[in-house]
Amino acid sequence: YESLSVGELANKLGREPSEIIKKLFLLGVMATINQELDKDAIELICAEYDVEVEEEIRIDVTDLEIYFEDPDSDEDEAESATEAIERPPVVTIMGHVDHGKTTLLDSIRDTKVTQGEAGGITQHIGAYQIESNGKKITFLDTPGHAAFTTMRARGAKVTDLTILVVAADDGVMPQTVEAISHAKAAEVPIIVAVNKMDKPSANPDRVMQELTEHGLVPEAWGGDTIFVPISALKGEGIDQLIEMILLVAEVGELKADPKVRAKGTVIEAQLDRGRGAVATLLVQDGTLHVGDPIVVGNTYGRVRAMINDVGRRVKEVGPSAPVEITGLSNVPQAGDRFVVFKDEKTARQIGETRAGEAIQEQRTEKARVTLDNLFEQM
Ligand code: GTP
Ligand code: MG
Repeated sequence: YESLSVGELANKLGREPSEIIKKLFLLGVMATINQELDKDAIELICAEYDVEVEEEIRIDVTDLEIYFEDPDSDEDEAESATEAIERPPVVTIMGHVDHGKTTLLDSIRDTKVTQGEAGGITQHIGAYQIESNGKKITFLDTPGHAAFTTMRARGAKVTDLTILVVAADDGVMPQTVEAISHAKAAEVPIIVAVNKMDKPSANPDRVMQELTEHGLVPEAWGGDTIFVPISALKGEGIDQLIEMILLVAEVGELKADPKVRAKGTVIEAQLDRGRGAVATLLVQDGTLHVGDPIVVGNTYGRVRAMINDVGRRVKEVGPSAPVEITGLSNVPQAGDRFVVFKDEKTARQIGETRAGEAIQEQRTEKARVTLDNLFEQM
């Protein structure tokens, strides 16, 4: 194996080595052009750039891991480093206002959510998991398009699958089209849920016609887009929709390695008066444990407590699981990436440097705003 030096990383990212060195410096890592980088440093740098590059690099990171482990560790350990297994799909429900997204989510939740724990679903969590025939599915409740756009802008590909909800009595509307372009840009497959089929004015043929014009051709018409007629209100067609989700997920061969240190994305976060910074995270790879040192966006901490989507305290969560954590020194933002580190010292060092950098940026922005205001007033 060739190892990944600063220069090689810069080359792969299509950046100047000096830019990478500067970024590393700001992250608290002193590096020269020929210096070999460890996994954490590479991931952190990659997190600063866009998705495609990041995915390409990720492969190298895995290779690197084996490379680093090879010399003095046994084979088993090296193998376990890349032991990716099947993970649940992460599904985002999108569509035009009032077309029935929330009703669909409620319907799925009521009929499918694993009962057992009192209290049901925590209201604050923006993501939850269901289990159907022993298969889990994570649903993301992204109410506004703004949140989703932010996530995409940050290069966080959190979704494996989009359910596009279109009301059969209303047809394709502006936000339907917007949702299609979001999903296409993120290269996420789309399943169309033609909703409100119970309404007398429902016209599914019109929906199919209009969506065909946007490149979503139903299988019945020789295309490859799955359309499922449903009534979210009456709970009709939901089982079939879930079946289709699992089918598409299977084709995608979604994998993650539960044995590596966790990384993923912030779904939402807020300041709680009693608990401090509270963040809902989506674990995208690895397993997150209570006590893990973690850098989340521009903040850091140690995972103090974790609560799953049914309000139950848990000690660890695996790939595709949503979880609410406390223990961060500050409130991160939706779409921020998180990475677990070996030790708290590194997490703190990187977290503090990133926080300092962010404050610096804010100051510059504030100064600019103040100046603008000044000119406005003149
Ligand atoms: P926003 O979050 O505002 O974008 O809306 P939404 O897409 O979440 O729609 P919501 O689920 O709030 O539903 C809007 C209205 O449509 C509500 O009054 C629902 O009761 C109604 N509705 C949703 N699904 C169905 C359905 O299958 N049949 C009928 N008849 N009404 C439905
Ligand atoms: Mg809604």
